[in-house]
Amino acid sequence: MQVTKPIGVFDSGYGGLTVLKEIVKELPQYDYLYMGDNARAPYGPRSFDTVYQYTLECVQWFFSQGCELVILACNTASAKALRTIQQKDLPNIAPNKRVLGVIRPTTEIIGQYSSTGKVGVLGTTGTVLSESYPIEIAKFFPQVTVYQEACPMWVPLIENNEYETPGADYFVQKHLQNILIADKDIDTLLLACTHYPLLINKIRQFVPAGVSIVSQGEIVAKSLALYLENHSDMAGRCTKNGELSFYTTDSVTDFDTHAGSFFGRTVHSKHLDLGLK
Ligand code: DGL
Repeated sequence: MQVTKPIGVFDSGYGGLTVLKEIVKELPQYDYLYMGDNARAPYGPRSFDTVYQYTLECVQWFFSQGCELVILACNTASAKALRTIQQKDLPNIAPNKRVLGVIRPTTEIIGQYSSTGKVGVLGTTGTVLSESYPIEIAKFFPQVTVYQEACPMWVPLIENNEYETPGADYFVQKHLQNILIADKDIDTLLLACTHYPLLINKIRQFVPAGVSIVSQGEIVAKSLALYLENHSDMAGRCTKNGELSFYTTDSVTDFDTHAGSFFGRTVHSKHLDLGLK
């Protein structure tokens, strides 16, 4: 029997599909297993402990499915859970497996987008409060000043399919105004939540033409390609049949209805029961 060892891609809900879409474009030969924990989304307002526990539980499920490598395609989980999982859990539960996030690849490169050295970071409350972006960007680009804005309504607008409505304008404009007013020289806005690319058309309406709006999908995809090039042992352990499968912890019908707008093509998911209480 052929054993599949897909690359696991995780998000609290749909957002990670914007990253998976770019990863599949960059590395179509690999098998991928996507899981959205929609039943417990959004993660953004939840405590560190809760996000850590949920994320660890999901990572263990990916491992049980044969994944050798799991990408946390969620900034909130990357900010609140990744380091503990890498440093504390992996050595005990799966020393040869790897879990990677989206913050490091983004912070390694974001300074290159800015000429003024003023970068705005838009994220969930959890990501912003973790201070992960200012701390990590300072390591790679010490000359860059980082401004942050939490946009707690953006994920609910997207998860509830209200992101293209006039009602969404208020919340989009409000947070963009808040961040742009902080410094008139901000020339780069990072969408530090994998859900936010769905709002890109609305965001563009409220941002001056000279400001670059950066999504993470391509950045993470290119960084994964480089990682696999540099880690041939891991690349060899992941199977390559070009297969994709999708799981959600909530309704399959809802997931399949909405997932297409994030992934760019039709998705047929299966339900995953994590024994949620
Ligand atoms: N997509 C997730 C992120 O990148 C957050 C969504 C949520 O709040 O659950 O942060």
